[in-house]
Amino acid sequence: MKFFVDTADIAEIKELQDAGLIDGVTTNPSLVLKANRPIKEIIKDICDVTEGPVSAEVAATDFDGMLREGKILAAIAQNVVIKLPLTLDGLKACKHLTGEGFKTNVTLCFSANQALLAAKAGATYISPFIGRLDDTNINGMELIADIRRIYDNYDFETEILAASIRTANHVREAALLGADVSTVPPATLKTLIKHPLTDKGLESFVADWKKTGQTID
Ligand code: E4P
Repeated sequence: MKFFVDTADIAEIKELQDAGLIDGVTTNPSLVLKANRPIKEIIKDICDVTEGPVSAEVAATDFDGMLREGKILAAIAQNVVIKLPLTLDGLKACKHLTGEGFKTNVTLCFSANQALLAAKAGATYISPFIGRLDDTNINGMELIADIRRIYDNYDFETEILAASIRTANHVREAALLGADVSTVPPATLKTLIKHPLTDKGLESFVADWKKTGQTID
């Protein structure tokens, strides 16, 4: 499974990239608002830090506007993926931009049928929102399972990008179900590293090593 980090914060991306923990980045308008900088600057800076796919979302909601903005964003760097909402115009824009050779990420997916349509439109990635479904008492993981099955049934190449990930357990379940990618907020990504028994074990190894009086030279 590939890991993307879901943030527009350059320092956080750099830290995770330097640690070799991430394969790409996703952003959205809310994350751009939080970063409080011009979107073109943000995307350029992210693409300078990582060679992996960087999703940049259009703001327009009409077909022509999405095409125009998508091409502006894609011109920033060769690894930009144009992120489009799962609407009729978004699907049309996806088909069009994919046809022109651009990479696309169809976002705000909440049903298997929406994911099927995105795959038929040639999306590079489909982003089902796990956490936001869970918030409405619908099991987001069932959507990942359904999409995996449907895509495998028809050999769709669209990658399942599990999004709106809130917990380490979401990552584990998405991986077990065969999602191709999880996009995870930086803090959640770091929780994947932690286990209390690792900390406890390391503490006792460090203490015992000190007692040996040895050094490794
Ligand atoms: C994905 O592409 C979205 O940017 C993101 O995962 C949404 O997550 P949220 O529901 O926590 O805002």
